[in-house]
Amino acid sequence: MYSLVLKGGHPLEGEVHVSGAKNAVLPILAATLLTREPCVIRRAPELSDVAFMARVLTSVGAKVRIQDGAITVQAPRVRGFGDYELVRKMRGSICILGPLLARLGEAQVSLPGGCVIGPRPIDLHLKGLRALGARITIEGGYVCARAQRLRGTSLFLGGRAGPTVLGTANVMMAATLAEGVTVIESAACEPEIVDLAHFLNAMGARISGAGSPTITITGVRELHGAEHEVIPDRIEAATFAIAAAATRGEVTLRGSRPEHYHAVLDKLVEIGAKVERRLGAVTVKGARRYRPADITTQPYAGFPTDAQAQMMVLLTQAEGISLITERIYESRFMHVSELARLGADITLEGSTAVIKGPTPLSGAPVMASDLRASAALVLAGLVARGETRVKRIYHLDRGYEKIDEKLRQLGARVTRVRD
Ligand code: EPU
Repeated sequence: MYSLVLKGGHPLEGEVHVSGAKNAVLPILAATLLTREPCVIRRAPELSDVAFMARVLTSVGAKVRIQDGAITVQAPRVRGFGDYELVRKMRGSICILGPLLARLGEAQVSLPGGCVIGPRPIDLHLKGLRALGARITIEGGYVCARAQRLRGTSLFLGGRAGPTVLGTANVMMAATLAEGVTVIESAACEPEIVDLAHFLNAMGARISGAGSPTITITGVRELHGAEHEVIPDRIEAATFAIAAAATRGEVTLRGSRPEHYHAVLDKLVEIGAKVERRLGAVTVKGARRYRPADITTQPYAGFPTDAQAQMMVLLTQAEGISLITERIYESRFMHVSELARLGADITLEGSTAVIKGPTPLSGAPVMASDLRASAALVLAGLVARGETRVKRIYHLDRGYEKIDEKLRQLGARVTRVRD
């Protein structure tokens, strides 16, 4: 296992290129199972989650080639049976359920478990697929879905915490091959859903309204191969933007889409950082003093849950009391106790974190628990005086392409060491 060792207290300075979006490429890879023709996915980030998804596709019969940031998938024949251990390990692989069911009329995929960020049910995925006419049972830990041919209908996908991103993806993919018209109400509006819809339309699907809460899909008989370039990763961009502010440096992000992480940039400006947008580039400049903030995580276009932990690190440097309320995953606060080891003053009141600042941070060994918590610990290590060792960084490699290299380019003192 590897750790990152950081020597903090140095401002990040320079330019960084934003990679393709993990959460866009995973469902897009699943969508390639909808056709027997080859698909080429460009700007695919080099991440362990992406390699894992490639294994999932291979396990159902697809041929996958990864070369120079492009992934070619061809699935002339597929099996409707997702390997239990493989699918169970990565939640994103539940996205193969909709495509396999639509193409084959039956699919058996293992039920994904919860994870450290809280329970992660798939009831809304199943509700949507049932509305399209699938008969679904849970047997031996598998979701077993059957339907001669799915039928378009009008369905509502809103849940307790709002819309579901991967649930919308699953139902949208299944509906592309259904008979008739499907209308998804309370659909997720995330840019990753829009990107998936663009890819599906390039494959011959007829989808309109993606990016709004109402998505309309007119079913077609079959889909064909297509090429697609994945959108830039808005959470990676947000993470570097927050890191620039937290280290009081100046970082220019190249190749990102600032409109996709507007909520984060807006908060940075509100607390006192400078944000400058130019064509193709966003520059974030840190300030000496920061105002506190009150943040609630929300579905897109609200403040993303995936940038909450990173923002908490920055708010330890703000003068006064900041609040972060988590509305998507109410117990996504595993980073709080680790940040305390570095000297942060954060208390939890239900699903709200109360952050008292400014607190000087000082380096310590800390343990990463999930992807975004790991990113927060790295940011804290960049701010803290002395040495911080972030253990179990395999979480980080799931979702940040070459993060240590990119940070080094910005002047960070960071090394990857084997434990
Ligand atoms: N929910 C249900 N029932 C369902 C599905 C979801 O109640 O059937 C609830 C969840 O428990 C949660 C809320 O709805 O409270 C939203 O969950 P959602 O389904 O939108 O999450 P997801 O699609 O499983 C994706 C990202 C997550 C990101 C969330 C929210 C991927 C692979 N994952 O998960 O990304 O946090 O949307 O934006 O796209 C990450 O990248 O670190 C990460 C966890």
